[in-house]
Amino acid sequence: MKKISSLSDLGLHSDVSHSFFFKPINSTTASSSSSTLLPSSSVAAPRTTKITVVGVGNVGMAIAQTILTQDLCDALSLLDANPDKLRGEMLDLQHAAAFLPRTKILSSSSDYSITAHSDLCIVTAGARQLVGESRLNLVQRNVEMFKNIVPQLARWSPDALLLVVSNPVDVLTYVAWKLSGFPAARVIGSGTNLDSSRFRFLLADHLEVNAQDVQAYMVGEHGDSSVALWSSITVAGVPVLSSLEKNQIAYEEEALERIRKAVVESAYEVIRLKGYTSWAIGYSAASLARTLLRDQRSIHPVSLLARGFYGIPDDKEVFLSLPAQLGRGGVLGVTNVHLTEEEARCLQQSADTLWEIQQQLGL
Ligand SMILES: NC(=O)c1ccc[n+]([C@@H]2O[C@H](COP(=O)([O-])OP(=O)(O)OC[C@H]3O[C@@H](n4cnc5c(N)ncnc54)[C@H](O)[C@@H]3O)[C@@H](O)[C@H]2O)c1
Repeated sequence: MKKISSLSDLGLHSDVSHSFFFKPINSTTASSSSSTLLPSSSVAAPRTTKITVVGVGNVGMAIAQTILTQDLCDALSLLDANPDKLRGEMLDLQHAAAFLPRTKILSSSSDYSITAHSDLCIVTAGARQLVGESRLNLVQRNVEMFKNIVPQLARWSPDALLLVVSNPVDVLTYVAWKLSGFPAARVIGSGTNLDSSRFRFLLADHLEVNAQDVQAYMVGEHGDSSVALWSSITVAGVPVLSSLEKNQIAYEEEALERIRKAVVESAYEVIRLKGYTSWAIGYSAASLARTLLRDQRSIHPVSLLARGFYGIPDDKEVFLSLPAQLGRGGVLGVTNVHLTEEEARCLQQSADTLWEIQQQLGL
């Protein structure tokens, strides 16, 4: 089937262009006595915000479409190893142009020059686990994929922020940091931003309040060993556990652990029911993009270089999620949340698990 590249290819006369509809304006300055046109070299290029998404599978497309509907950038470049799927997805998004703020959408299956000068690069490309394949083997395959992707992103956008979404997200954020050569503050994994939203949803649903009024963090590894910070949960500013204790309302530690497990298992349930997760990670990544690019300085639990925080030794270059202040410079600081001894112990365990995997990667 014929590939449509431009309307001139289809026979539209070349005189029918921008200048046919619009006369150029004279850029005379008001204060100038002589009517001079600005030399073109002194006219600054318009400031644009550009986001790149690598991988246009279920997750990449959910992120791309949330970014477009929330008007977070002026240019969006999409990359995927599958050229037909990529072009199909790009055209499908472009066909929504009449309903969305104007965003230039570019795509390529292999030419990373289209990503040049991105402010934020989001990596969602990822191999899926094969039947009988170990987790470590999957990690190795994704590391090989990242060796192809990350250096090219870094080359074309040396000042960008990198946001890793592909799983296992903590290990791959470490890999992206190593391969990019970027300062750690500019390499972030989506981490437990999503797990925390699932946690807040469950609590809010039970209490019949808006999830935005529930402050609750999951930290550590994105996945099975994530740690729920019960001691710091507040609803409308009221600390939950200490209020229960003050009012002598009993609760069981086992019930708290059952709720944490339900948060972890809710991802598996979505995958069992629809085959993958997409919408929530789309909103999670878009909320991170907004905070980063608009310098919102909001607190998000994200995967970051955690050495030196919460008792994680300085010689362990491990990435895991901690509540962090994010802005245009990336990670601006790690929040000093009080952890109980048990929470700190679980976080250490998460760090040990991730450290063991990282050491086998030979990076
Ligand atoms: N961090 C989170 O919270 C979270 C949530 C959901 C999914 N994920 C992860 O996101 C990743 C993507 O999930 P999905 O459901 O979109 O998978 P998917 O299989 O639908 O999409 C993956 C895409 O990556 C592309 N790809 C593969 N190799 C590539 C390469 N070298 N360069 C460019 N593109 C390449 C594939 O063609 C495919 O389109 C997985 O690793 C998944 O586990 C993370």
